[in-house]
Amino acid sequence: MPLIDEWMPERRSALGVFEAIGSDTHEEVLYGTDPVSGLQTIIAIHSTALGPALGGTRFYSYASEAAALTDVLRLSKAMSYKAAAAGLDLGGGKGVILGDPQQIKTERLMRAYGRVVDSLGGRYVTAEDVGTTARDMLNISRETRWVTGIPEVHGGSGDPSPATARGVLAAMRSVALRLWDTDDLSNCVVAIQGVGKVGSSLVQRLTKAGATVIVADVNDGALTEMEREYGARPVPLDDIYDVPCDIFAPCALGGSLSEATIPRLKCRAVVGAANNQIATEADADRLAAADILYAPDFVVNAGGIINITEELRGYSWERAAAAVDLVGDNLTKVFAAADTQGTNPNVAAIDVAQKRIAAIGGLSTRRRAGRSLTE
Ligand code: NAI
Repeated sequence: MPLIDEWMPERRSALGVFEAIGSDTHEEVLYGTDPVSGLQTIIAIHSTALGPALGGTRFYSYASEAAALTDVLRLSKAMSYKAAAAGLDLGGGKGVILGDPQQIKTERLMRAYGRVVDSLGGRYVTAEDVGTTARDMLNISRETRWVTGIPEVHGGSGDPSPATARGVLAAMRSVALRLWDTDDLSNCVVAIQGVGKVGSSLVQRLTKAGATVIVADVNDGALTEMEREYGARPVPLDDIYDVPCDIFAPCALGGSLSEATIPRLKCRAVVGAANNQIATEADADRLAAADILYAPDFVVNAGGIINITEELRGYSWERAAAAVDLVGDNLTKVFAAADTQGTNPNVAAIDVAQKRIAAIGGLSTRRRAGRSLTE
């Protein structure tokens, strides 16, 4: 049997999907459309070795199909590591819908997307992400049961942000124990970049724990509220990198820790919710060289996915909260692994995740994705 590019060279993927997957070995990449609603979607399943591939649906106006493919491959792989490092029986996946949600999102489009998700038979379970809401998850749920993050009034777990913030706080306590031999945060100064859904919940939790909080955000209204409600001290946007503090908490966008910003930091640790905080892998080394303890983002911000896992089992906040608090223990194990291996915590966290996927992923029952948690 000749290779496809020998007998039909023009059919060789113009997007280079196989090249894009490269050595990352994603299990499956599915393209879906619905011409009536204009749906164009790509779902990537990185791994179902530990269980169903869970990951949110990002609805975004990508510059090109290739950019959307790159994003969905990168994000689905990150979800595998996040779930594995959190000790969950979940794999990693992600969905992207191409286009501007403000312009093209309709009930029909979200339901058509639900059908694409359903066609995977539980190998992929979706959730909310940038550009999608709990209401969208409700529409998706009319076409498939493989969706989480349904509003609480409909029996779901609702907004994951409070759980994510709770996990970040647990991670900060783990860091405090390592650096200052106490998990009491009352003497801590924390600088938070971004006080949206997670950041604002973190401000509330930190001030309750007695910490001093400094905040920056592009949204002046959010800053005023944090000052009025919790006594947090606002600083101009760019100054957040320069303020003396114990912990710097990126809770806005990815890539905020870079060659340009790390030399400005005056903190002992970085512990935040934002995904992809380090601009490049080398920035984890840069932080270590600056004697700043980096708590890997995908370990710290796993509270949201842990919360969602509980929804798959039949939701209870009490159970979810107890599970989220284990984020602190997970981080402590990552630091111990970094000590043993003589690596930075980011490298150690990836290693912890890969080892769990290799160790547990061999169990045959886990490969029956979508069944172990629900049937
Ligand atoms: P959000 O959109 O509610 O909040 C982000 C905040 O950052 C907004 O207040 C925005 O005005 C602000 N912001 C934007 N650019 C900024 C800048 N340059 N400097 C300072 N502030 C800026 O988002 P959310 O849900 O709070 O998520 C925050 C981060 O945590 C994101 O990176 C997200 O991917 C990540 N994350 C969130 C989870 C969740 O449960 N919501 C779970 C895991 C990760």
